[in-house]
Amino acid sequence: MQPWRFVVVKDREVKRIIREAAEKEEHESYNNRMSDKWLRRLAPLGTDEHKPFLDVAPYLIVVFRITTVVEDSETEPTYYSQESVGIAVGILLAALHNMGLATLTHTPSPMKFLQEILGRPKNEIPFVLIPVGFPAEDAKVPDIERKPLKEILITI
Ligand SMILES: Cc1cc2nc3c(=O)[nH]c(=O)nc-3n(C[C@H](O)[C@H](O)[C@H](O)COP(=O)(O)O)c2cc1C
Repeated sequence: MQPWRFVVVKDREVKRIIREAAEKEEHESYNNRMSDKWLRRLAPLGTDEHKPFLDVAPYLIVVFRITTVVEDSETEPTYYSQESVGIAVGILLAALHNMGLATLTHTPSPMKFLQEILGRPKNEIPFVLIPVGFPAEDAKVPDIERKPLKEILITI
């Protein structure tokens, strides 16, 4: 059984509510939770607590990780759920990009508000929030350097 649930949000009002809740958490994060080191790392990217893409993007895909299931009337943990959901999200992002769509891997922290707004049960933990749409004509993408292959691949 796949230990994930994808919730696609296209309703404008629900997207607005998600943006408001995410910006409230991000305000707290940028002002009180993130270390100076972390903020210095983010500075060149120009990110801040404002997340307009959450109601500008036509669709939000909210991915939940399922932590437990009920089998034969017994509650059982799911196995390797972090790894499974990570792989599933990677394939989803690659498929969306292959279709010419733009995505943003967004992880407002904490993300519990998504569970409440979208009415998901306690065993479904928000994993990532992915706005999806065609890129805006004037979209700007930061030129983030990739490590050379020899740094990430070791052959023995
Ligand atoms: C697990 C994960 C969480 C991320 N969370 C955020 C986030 O909350 N906000 C943000 O602006 N970028 C976030 N990013 C970074 C961007 O989504 C994106 O990965 C980065 O801009 C590089 O994009 P590219 O790999 O398509 O070039 C996150 C990336 C990862 C891998």
